Amino acid sequence: MARRNKIYEGKAKIIYEGPEAGTIVQYFKDDATAFNAQKKDVIEGKGVLNNRLCEYFMVGLNQIGVPTHFIKRLNMREQLCKSCEIVPLEVIVRNYAAGTMSKRLGLEEGTQLPRPIVEYCYKDDSLGDPLVSEEHIAAFGWASQQDMDDILSLALRVNDFLSGVMYGVGIKLIDFKIEIGRVYDGDYQRLIVADEISPDSCRLWDMETGQKLDKDVFRRDLGNLADAYTEVATRLGVMPKTSTPITKPTLIN
Ligand code: C5P
Repeated sequence: MARRNKIYEGKAKIIYEGPEAGTIVQYFKDDATAFNAQKKDVIEGKGVLNNRLCEYFMVGLNQIGVPTHFIKRLNMREQLCKSCEIVPLEVIVRNYAAGTMSKRLGLEEGTQLPRPIVEYCYKDDSLGDPLVSEEHIAAFGWASQQDMDDILSLALRVNDFLSGVMYGVGIKLIDFKIEIGRVYDGDYQRLIVADEISPDSCRLWDMETGQKLDKDVFRRDLGNLADAYTEVATRLGVMPKTSTPITKPTLIN
């Protein structure tokens, strides 16, 4: 069988050409990076967990009519997705202050915000994904006003869905990041949720204890990242309670 063509390799995923036109295969690596890749490690099993969790969230969104690029999971580390043109923005939704918002505005982490706040960052690693305003987005033509209306609506719908799902398993959704893709139907374009939704791209705190169950565990050296992600997966029923993630074939005598 011919080797698939790699389209792009990012920090946590590899994108391959899909089996049919208009599709791609998204492969989840075990690599963890933080602070624009200044901190790196390999966390065994992270890719498997993120693939399953991402499937869970994307399937749920598709079911409630929020369009995503997700088609189906192929195996432990890969999912088949619609290919799309990524809007060069990181769309962040925050329910509680944390991370860069806490630093920027001097807010204690965990402070509830008066309402969900949506922020946009320009996707450019060499610039450290700077925060931008809608004025920048319009002036530089990264997205039209109609796109921005659609992006805001998608972001808030994803927030409602994810907050509810997490609340149901005793987890507070502090914030998350999504990326948006354009797909073309003839002359028309549609915007859909693309990339991934996983504990790599969300802040998730246990409702009772405040324990962090997301990538901050790695960023801030708070313990074992795979254990934190397994906890999220187990609570959501995505992983059986006793399983440990299988990362490589094991020979049985
Ligand atoms: O770092 P900051 O506080 O701005 O992050 C807000 C949210 O966006 C966090 O959930 C973080 O994991 C996510 N994020 C991301 N990828 C980035 C930047 C932020 O997934 N490049």
